[in-house]
Amino acid sequence: MIEMKLFLLMTSVIVTQAGTLRGECKGVEINGATYEEEMLYENLDRPYLLTVDYSTNDLYFSYSIDNDEDSSATARYNLDTKKFTTIEGVNNGFAQTVDQTTQTVYIGGSDGLYRYDKDTKRAVLIGAPSINIWTIFYKDVLYFSTYPSHILYTFSNGQITRFPDLEDTRVDNFIIDNDDYIFFTNTSGLYRQKKGTKDAVLYEVFEDFGVRGFALDAQGVVHACFQNGVYSLNNTEVGLKKIVSVDDAFGVAFDKDNNLIYSDARRVIRLKPTKDC
Ligand SMILES: *[C@@H]1O[C@H](CO)[C@@H](O)[C@H](O)[C@H]1NC(C)=O
Ligand SMILES: *[C@@H]1O[C@H](CO)[C@@H](O)[C@H](O)[C@H]1NC(C)=O
Repeated sequence: MIEMKLFLLMTSVIVTQAGTLRGECKGVEINGATYEEEMLYENLDRPYLLTVDYSTNDLYFSYSIDNDEDSSATARYNLDTKKFTTIEGVNNGFAQTVDQTTQTVYIGGSDGLYRYDKDTKRAVLIGAPSINIWTIFYKDVLYFSTYPSHILYTFSNGQITRFPDLEDTRVDNFIIDNDDYIFFTNTSGLYRQKKGTKDAVLYEVFEDFGVRGFALDAQGVVHACFQNGVYSLNNTEVGLKKIVSVDDAFGVAFDKDNNLIYSDARRVIRLKPTKDC
């Protein structure tokens, strides 16, 4: 019960700071509740595009390999057993998403879209074999953006279709919330647009760095990872609030219990409610 309250509090966002709080308690404070940092994995090169399969509590993300900008691999990390594996069968696994309804994991690599087969533990090519995939997201169908053309497509029944609402716009990173608002970025900034319209609303202009990752929490609130931390986005009014400060943040996700997970340049960290504070 107490934990549940903390989860709820955590999503109602206020500026946060790391530091020593309430005497003995050390941790990260979010809206009056204290969370401790649980190191999940370290010594990785830029863990990126995090997502969780709620049915297995596996965290999927990509990271750079061979000290190379262009070489990456998708990792599967079980949040219960702490087992870490690298997924075979994808060329430069980079983007990952989960269809939580069918518990299907999809991966985008430098040459196409893949479905991860959890039994054989291999990824299988399902489409777009000549396309370099940038980010992907599943909601009813598989959406993907491309690199370097920055176009948003859908993939359904083997068909690739340019997404009509955003056919005039470049798209880098994106997510779709439960009310069918698409939050997307291009080099100009962060925008929100209702599906079925062409009315983009500007949320944030980018000066130096853009959004490195998006995630939805259990209440359907969109969170965005910027270089300096994790922000929650207000979906009724234009606005965003920093909830966790991070030095060189790379990604954000929520586990099956709605705990926030983020990565920095070398580590993957989960924030868990501190019981004794
Ligand atoms: C980014 O998207 C907005 C909204 O659609 C658009 O006005 C702007 O021109 C786009 N910028 C680029 C570089 O595509
Ligand atoms: C969104 O903005 C409105 C108006 O400022 C505010 O009442 C509401 O609490 C905000 N919601 C979140 C989740 O920050």
